[in-house]
Amino acid sequence: MARPEPTRRIFLIGFMGAGKTSVGRALATRLGWKFSDLDNIIEVREQQTVATIFAERGEAEFRRLENAALAELLQASSAVNELSQPGQVIALGGGTFVQAANRAALENAGATTVLLEAPLEELISRCREAGNARPLAGDVVTFQELFTARQSAYSHARYRVDTMGKSVEQVAEEIQQVLAVGKPEVTQ
Ligand code: S3P
Repeated sequence: MARPEPTRRIFLIGFMGAGKTSVGRALATRLGWKFSDLDNIIEVREQQTVATIFAERGEAEFRRLENAALAELLQASSAVNELSQPGQVIALGGGTFVQAANRAALENAGATTVLLEAPLEELISRCREAGNARPLAGDVVTFQELFTARQSAYSHARYRVDTMGKSVEQVAEEIQQVLAVGKPEVTQ
């Protein structure tokens, strides 16, 4: 495993409904860093929603696209380690970190990974509120099984933050504190 890089790129991981995208956006704003969402990168590139990719091309194809998009993002964003560049916050999809190859790519890059956690019932209710845009969130039994099956993969995250009962801003602030990252001082 590579030596941990100084925290210039923060990868948010966690199950569907954990708040990766909303917290990621808030955290990037607080830090003055760039925000990227891996699902969004795939959608823009493929000109299809994640739901359509799952429906028309299947999950295996989505995982292939996800792996390629992550590899490219890791490559392209490695320049943020130069301190003159703003850092980057990246929201991964709920299954990204579960794929061993993706975990290895993140570990090899020395990436800072933060797991956003919430109890299963809370995740179910957040996903319900968000409607049915998530192809793997349709049925509660599958959702529950996936949640359980993924815990051991998620345990490889470098940091964990509990999101239960906290606002998006509170979670973003907590991550900032846990990682001890802040906006760089402006020097003349
Ligand atoms: C998935 C989660 C989704 C998206 C895709 C697969 C998963 O992202 O990547 O539907 O396997 O858990 P979110 O976690 O942002 O919903």
